[in-house]
Amino acid sequence: MRAVLVGPPGAGKGTQAQILAAELSIPKVSTGDIFRANVSGGTELGKKAKEYMDRGDLVPDEVTNAMVKDRLARDDAAGGFLLDGFPRNVPQAETLKGMLRDLDTRLDVVLELRVDEDEVVRRLSGRRSCPQCGRVYHVEYDAPKTEGRCDDDGAELYQREDDREETIRHRLKVYREQTAPLVEYYEKEGLLATIAATGPVAEVTGRAMAAIEGKA
Ligand code: AP5
Ligand code: ZN
Repeated sequence: MRAVLVGPPGAGKGTQAQILAAELSIPKVSTGDIFRANVSGGTELGKKAKEYMDRGDLVPDEVTNAMVKDRLARDDAAGGFLLDGFPRNVPQAETLKGMLRDLDTRLDVVLELRVDEDEVVRRLSGRRSCPQCGRVYHVEYDAPKTEGRCDDDGAELYQREDDREETIRHRLKVYREQTAPLVEYYEKEGLLATIAATGPVAEVTGRAMAAIEGKA
């Protein structure tokens, strides 16, 4: 299974990607998580990405595309993968198509998670993330068992730099202008499946699995 998740910031892509990748036994490839790991590790890639991420802008395509190409070339992605946060504009989608063509394969499904902007702001302002494993929580909707600590590894949760209200608004604008056109792009390719990403996490997962299985 080669699948992509598309949706605005806060739609629940990371939350669902974690669960779906485990259910489907494929690796989750989250460009946002890879960038954040590089920022906290102080790598060259992290230095290039940080200023864009803090503003809520997209990191330049040449940086992002090269990183994804390396990741998809790794052995564990040979049998399939779930992309979370890539592609994020039409040029990245074209690049992905070329990368997969070179590997003699193609995407099976692009799953769009739909949620309105007020809900996005509620979700992102209450989000807390684990620096160790990348798992995300919400102070109200999906609280950890021990306040401020990851259920899986006990690490102290943190609030992302780009989850301030004005940066959230800017990320939504970037989504509308640069990423939303992918919905039509993948519709034309016959790959798109759209689900409502509201309601309990487990219900969204159920809808996602049904949509993926319907396309595969
Ligand atoms: P990225 O990390 O991809 O951020 P994003 O797309 O803005 O998405 P988020 O991670 O904010 O939200 P999500 O949809 O994953 O929601 P989550 O599951 O966490 O990218 C960050 C930055 O990196 C970009 O701005 C850019 O600079 C750079 N970047 C990344 N990819 C790039 C690319 N391809 N090209 C260029 N630059 C790139 O959920 C949100 C909250 O809601 C959580 O608290 C969660 O617990 C809660 N929640 C989830 N589901 C539910 C539910 N059903 N009900 C209630 N609450 C829920
Ligand atoms: Zn953790």
